[in-house]
Amino acid sequence: MAKVTVVGAGNVGATCANVLAHKDIVKEVVLLDIKGDMAKGKALDTWQQAPIDYYSTTVTGTDDYADTAGSDIVVITAGIPRRPGMSRDDLISTNAKIVKTVTENIVKHSANPIIIVVSNPLDVMTLAAFEASGLDKSRVFGMAGILDTARYRAFLATALDVSPKEIQAVLMGGHGDTMVPLPRYTTVAGIPVTELIDDATLDAIVERTKKGGGELVQLMGTSAWYAPGAAAAQMVEAIVKDENRIFPCCALLEGEYGLNDIFLGVPVKLGKNGINEMIELKLNEAEMELLNNSANHVSSVIEVFKGMDI
Ligand code: LAC
Repeated sequence: MAKVTVVGAGNVGATCANVLAHKDIVKEVVLLDIKGDMAKGKALDTWQQAPIDYYSTTVTGTDDYADTAGSDIVVITAGIPRRPGMSRDDLISTNAKIVKTVTENIVKHSANPIIIVVSNPLDVMTLAAFEASGLDKSRVFGMAGILDTARYRAFLATALDVSPKEIQAVLMGGHGDTMVPLPRYTTVAGIPVTELIDDATLDAIVERTKKGGGELVQLMGTSAWYAPGAAAAQMVEAIVKDENRIFPCCALLEGEYGLNDIFLGVPVKLGKNGINEMIELKLNEAEMELLNNSANHVSSVIEVFKGMDI
């Protein structure tokens, strides 16, 4: 049974730990935060939920990396969230340092963990964690695609008045306004979505999805946590159960899709070793153009990151 550390006891980290405990699939979840009492409190609250919701996963909070020793999987949510009017990219100067330090501390205490990055700006923070970790590229990747596709699927479920369970979709690119939902790879119980919805409604849903995170920041004054926390927990589940589930994840591209040295959302197979395989879709010209546009945007944020003195 696996040990999972979640770094960051803010809304996303605490939700991830809570959802993970409910799945009852790992032995232990350690919730770590520099604000140790918050981590201890939220962990204790989740542990006290165990007799009610019936799970055995122990959940403990700490501010000491020694307690994360021997983690199989680490979810990094540390960093500041967006406020209204901010883009995810505006967080880079604060979060890059945090993600680097967190990753260095993690690999001091765990030999060969799998790291799932959730901190924003996601694609570049995944790169930061990868570089700081020294781990293989199959073991460091980011959570964005599951969340972004979930938003897209939820909007489609509402528009079509069907269960969200019926909606399957692929979405690629960076975790930002340039993300690329792919209607050609979207189905409703196996039926191509384009047979069930008119173009204008679908286009509006694609646009709403791209700004899905921002819509929630506007509503709540901070970024979302239920779906982001659950999405990260779902990735942990795929790894722990060695499921080979296919999810869009932020992964290092080395020639795939004609792109190099960039972390970007692509469909991958997730199992016990992390990314078991990257799937290369046969994108058409228009889709490829959107993906390249998204890659260019992420590259510009990588340039900012490379220019930082951290
Ligand atoms: C969002 C944050 C987690 O999209 O990036 O809500």
